[in-house]
Amino acid sequence: MKRHLISTGDLTRDDALLILDTAEELARVSQRSIKKLPTLRGRTVVNLFFEDSTRTRISFEAAAKRLSADVINFSAKGSSVSKGESLKDTALTLEAMGADAVVIRHSASGAPHRLATWVRGSVVNAGDGTHEHPTQALLDAFSIRRRLGRLEGLKIAVVGDVLHSRVARSNVLLLHTLGAEVTLVAPPTLLPVAVGTWPCQISYDLDAVLPKSDVVMMLRVQLERMNAAYFPSAREYSRRYGLDRDRFARLHDDAIVMHPGPMNRGMEISAEVADSPRSTIVEQVANGVTVRMAVLYLLLGGSEPAIGGAE
Ligand code: NCD
Repeated sequence: MKRHLISTGDLTRDDALLILDTAEELARVSQRSIKKLPTLRGRTVVNLFFEDSTRTRISFEAAAKRLSADVINFSAKGSSVSKGESLKDTALTLEAMGADAVVIRHSASGAPHRLATWVRGSVVNAGDGTHEHPTQALLDAFSIRRRLGRLEGLKIAVVGDVLHSRVARSNVLLLHTLGAEVTLVAPPTLLPVAVGTWPCQISYDLDAVLPKSDVVMMLRVQLERMNAAYFPSAREYSRRYGLDRDRFARLHDDAIVMHPGPMNRGMEISAEVADSPRSTIVEQVANGVTVRMAVLYLLLGGSEPAIGGAE
């Protein structure tokens, strides 16, 4: 594996499977009453969050702590970033503090890539602008494999605001590498210009895609990133691209429904569908900790056994 995790496009099939299999081993630890492993004792993980986040930040923090790393949480609000300090100066400060890994979320696509040229430790992309969110895609793949037993050959629909979604790009690249067939479903205005070069199919018709899908991954409509009118109204969007009870009924019996959160209940997904037993939304959050433990372990401590000595 490479030293940094910036894009799922950098992962080979073997890299990706190693992360998922390591996460599977680590999931056993999460079921114990004492969840902590000594694996990353003495290592420092810095969480550098320039953009709001609930689950991703908490999840990385829990993952690093369960591996006994020292964790430093840094959020742009209340730091010298609000006084205009640059990403580079912030990075050099972290470097001086001896960070072994920097987990970064930033509103600018490409920020983790730049950061990787300035620090000696590993950089983990926790979401950069509209570009990528690799650990989200890994936890999604992990969640699918746990529910359905495989990824190879599965038909996966990724539905909604693809244009603004880093989750969509990371998932398309990873799921393709792992042998799944992905179809993006969105109105033409919510697809990126270069989507034709992505390894997936495109459809504008959710009703045609649903009956053929094993997994339906709904994306949040990212109103905070919209600077123009991409669809006539929320109601109209929901009518054509929302997953409500009627559409859910058209899925085959084993199909599952996913969402990375946070959800706009009633817009891209109805509350009834989100809370159904075939929705993996809560599992995705729990699996996020395990998958991030696997990523931190493989980037920082890779040569020692993950669970050795703690049994
Ligand atoms: C996603 C994100 O921040 O990219 N959320 C997450 O990490 N769980 C998706 C979103 O914001 O819609």
